Amino acid sequence: MPEATKTHTVEARLATADDLPALIANETSRTKGLSAEYLAEQERGDFYVVVGLIDGEIGGRAILDCRDDGETLVPEMRLLWVFPHARRKGLGVAMTAALEDLARDLGYREIFLGVSPENPAAIPLYVELGYAPTGEHRAAVNVSVLDTDAEPPMEAVFQKSLVVR
Ligand SMILES: CC(C)(COP(=O)(O)OP(=O)(O)OC[C@H]1O[C@@H](n2cnc3c(N)ncnc32)[C@H](O)[C@@H]1OP(=O)(O)O)[C@@H](O)C(=O)NCCC(=O)NCCS
Repeated sequence: MPEATKTHTVEARLATADDLPALIANETSRTKGLSAEYLAEQERGDFYVVVGLIDGEIGGRAILDCRDDGETLVPEMRLLWVFPHARRKGLGVAMTAALEDLARDLGYREIFLGVSPENPAAIPLYVELGYAPTGEHRAAVNVSVLDTDAEPPMEAVFQKSLVVR
């Protein structure tokens, strides 16, 4: 259900092929071509693309990656990215909640993510939503969403239970 905020309507849902033009229109030099790749991966399964909408327009996307190669975190929220013009209007929260609902519906009891300890926007968002650091770290893998070309830092692994409310 759309959630009414003070001035905007914010919602999040699974992406479809019809969303591709809007996603491509907001690609950057760092993300060029990735929207089509992600939607193709969604077709292959265990990989879900969620889009966030603000007043009916796509303002960001995020991924729930359930592919299990024995080494990665499963399920993992990945590549959360709100287009710069749409930030601070609740889309990050809405897309995170949609990914959590999806993971819960798929039967998972917890969800993971990796985030740079130096990300000044994402850390408060995740902490506010109940994520906590596991104490583990790994080399950054989601570099396309970073706003800088600087050497990607290590990521801290965060976890949230999907059963304890
Ligand atoms: C991080 C990101 C997804 C947040 O998206 P958003 O839609 O702007 O976030 P929301 O509007 O849902 O913000 C919810 C809360 O998160 C926190 N937050 C969001 N942006 C913040 C910022 N720039 N500084 C401090 N806190 C911030 C606040 O607590 C905020 O609540 P408030 O606005 O009531 O204070 C967005 O800034 C982004 O796409 N950044 C670049 C990509 C990135 O870093 N992705 C995460 C990779 S792990």
